[in-house]
Amino acid sequence: MTFGTAESGATNRTLGSKISIRELHSREEEAIMTFLLHLEPEDVRARFGSLRPSIRYLLPGIDRGRHSVAFAATDTGTTVLGILNLECLTTPTAEIAVITRSDHKRRGIGRLLLGCSLLWAERCGLAHLFGYISVQNTAALALVRAAGFRVIRCDGFTLEVGNTLPVSDL
Ligand SMILES: CC(C)(COP(=O)(O)OP(=O)(O)OC[C@H]1O[C@@H](n2cnc3c(N)ncnc32)[C@H](O)[C@@H]1OP(=O)(O)O)[C@@H](O)C(=O)NCCC(=O)NCCS
Repeated sequence: MTFGTAESGATNRTLGSKISIRELHSREEEAIMTFLLHLEPEDVRARFGSLRPSIRYLLPGIDRGRHSVAFAATDTGTTVLGILNLECLTTPTAEIAVITRSDHKRRGIGRLLLGCSLLWAERCGLAHLFGYISVQNTAALALVRAAGFRVIRCDGFTLEVGNTLPVSDL
């Protein structure tokens, strides 16, 4: 399933190549291992909350009884440049987390992943998405705010951000 593309231009400033969003499959461990090798420590910490990235949190599947899906941004089909994970909690709510490969940031990949995931979530009947961001993570906060997320609460270290989706009539 392909959800959208970022053509060359404003959203794809660095390489001028085409980025596609598709589902990431649980069999793609090798591609994810390569992805992890291209992450800077500060990005690992921002996504995983520690300096030890875990492939388990990036792969889709069923964990602790919760169903999760993942979307990958790719340029060649196999090279993963960004991953958005969406874990369905109590219906119709899901938690999201996103990360772009450190050497491909600011190309519009995060925005494209988030936009496609919002569309997907809406079509699936999800009503509320939320996520957690460090208070210092201005990049992620700007990204999600632009996509309609609002800060729900803050404990001084972490922001909980949420977005209520329109009801889909599909
Ligand atoms: C947050 C993150 C996913 C953004 O991904 P990205 O692919 O670089 O983002 P995009 O290029 O799509 O940028 C979209 C918008 O986000 C904001 N943004 C992205 N990087 C930014 C930065 N360094 N500073 C300020 N705003 C930034 C901007 O509003 C940007 O729009 P613009 O380029 O028109 O100004 C990326 O920085 C990342 O992987 N960080 C580490 C993991 C993380 O923090 N995840 C969030 C918690 S789960």
